[in-house]
Amino acid sequence: MDRTGGRGQASDGCPELATRPNLARATNYLVGGGANFAPDRAAVNEMLAMDPGLGRRIQAGRAFVARAVRDALDGGCDQFLELGAGIPSPAGLHSLVGPDARVVYVDVDPVAVAHTRDLLAAEEAGRVAVVEADLRDAAGVLTQLATGPLDLGRPVTLVCNSVLQWVADSDGTELARTFEAYRSALAPGSRLVISVAHPDELAAEEAAEVRPIIEAAVAPLRLRGRAELDRILGAWEPLPPGIVDAVDWPVASGAETSGFYAVVCAARR
Ligand SMILES: C[S@@+](CC[C@H](N)C(=O)[O-])C[C@H]1O[C@@H](n2cnc3c(N)ncnc32)[C@H](O)[C@@H]1O
Repeated sequence: MDRTGGRGQASDGCPELATRPNLARATNYLVGGGANFAPDRAAVNEMLAMDPGLGRRIQAGRAFVARAVRDALDGGCDQFLELGAGIPSPAGLHSLVGPDARVVYVDVDPVAVAHTRDLLAAEEAGRVAVVEADLRDAAGVLTQLATGPLDLGRPVTLVCNSVLQWVADSDGTELARTFEAYRSALAPGSRLVISVAHPDELAAEEAAEVRPIIEAAVAPLRLRGRAELDRILGAWEPLPPGIVDAVDWPVASGAETSGFYAVVCAARR
């Protein structure tokens, strides 16, 4: 595990990578971060031209995560493991949770990991760490946590924000196994916070036009329905109000829907 005291490079260290868009950097641009390059901005701007509501929907998903994280903190859980963390934006998890909470960011993409290491200030060392790993390798992730800031004897909140729609798994079976592995390893009182784009995220008439642009620019999109999300959650027990649109957690808001499922689960035994 890399502790985050070190300052990385201002670029990815791989100049050729900056010639095409990258999912983590494009997301960083979409949410107002500065860790992105011209191809990322061009891809996002093309998507926004086709789908002007994209930014609002992404922000609604993020606002849900912020509320769920606050709720976890209020409930006494001050340790967070973000899977598919991308590149933290100025309002990233480690800033959101305050200086006493502990955070580990996990991403499979070395580009995202390099930028995250670069962004984290030296004073975060000891309470924030970055792991390069595939979230589906729960055993590998948990092994790396053994030497990091999280105390696995105490509850941990797992956060999966806008990532599962990018994880290839044809029917969710592998993800169900993955989340069960995390659930059985984590202490009672642990939580799972998921926000994930659902099939209505792209209105039918937009989908035909926008999906090919997204997939050509960044990565294949794997939108999952409610039944599949239910299967993925397995023995993680959704807390009220269950699986809802992000704008309706924890209470129905009447706001325009986000196209993101939101759910907070408890690791009951
Ligand atoms: C849309 S970005 C979201 C980033 C961040 N959670 C946020 O909301 O800003 C999705 C991220 O998931 C990462 N990712 C995709 N598949 C992954 C996997 N199997 N394991 C870990 N990370 C993954 C990508 O590299 C990317 O950084």
